[in-house]
Amino acid sequence: MAVHRLVYVSTTAPGLDQPSLDAILDAARRNNAEMGITGFLLSLDGHFMQLLEGPKAAVESTYQAICADSRHSNPVVVLQTDGETRCFPDWRMGCHVARQVRPQADMKQQTSTGVAGALPVSVTPDVRALFLGFRGSPGVSIGVQ
Ligand SMILES: Cc1cc2nc3c(=O)[nH]c(=O)nc-3n(C[C@H](O)[C@H](O)[C@H](O)COP(=O)(O)O)c2cc1C
Repeated sequence: MAVHRLVYVSTTAPGLDQPSLDAILDAARRNNAEMGITGFLLSLDGHFMQLLEGPKAAVESTYQAICADSRHSNPVVVLQTDGETRCFPDWRMGCHVARQVRPQADMKQQTSTGVAGALPVSVTPDVRALFLGFRGSPGVSIGVQ
């Protein structure tokens, strides 16, 4: 059966703290299990990138609910596609919080280890490239969690 996939980026609400992020993940994991949705949320330097995958109607209604959430703003869809298998079959909503780091000589190495290490092997090359390329704000590099 085809799996619908949607990836968006958004801007985190100012002052969003760890308890708020935990509350988002609690709701996501509870609802997504019921809706047949799996996915991944990356938080970096004031921005989110999230992948939702599952039945098309479930993905679209969940995305509509997420768009109306005041804990972030300006959601923009960057990928919407159908696949045969899930990228995150075991994750109701995986999460990785990357931190801002100062550029260093070994940054390229560090960058790929941070998010790449959090992604399971089932992630397709197009989705992997999106998450590895995500920089949050322009000029910011991804650090290890
Ligand atoms: C960045 C972000 C990601 C979210 N991801 C999900 C999600 O994957 N699934 C979900 O049901 N809600 C998600 N939410 C929360 C929804 O916006 C909404 O608060 C929630 O679905 C309401 O659920 P409830 O009526 O059970 O409290 C997310 C919110 C934010 C800000």
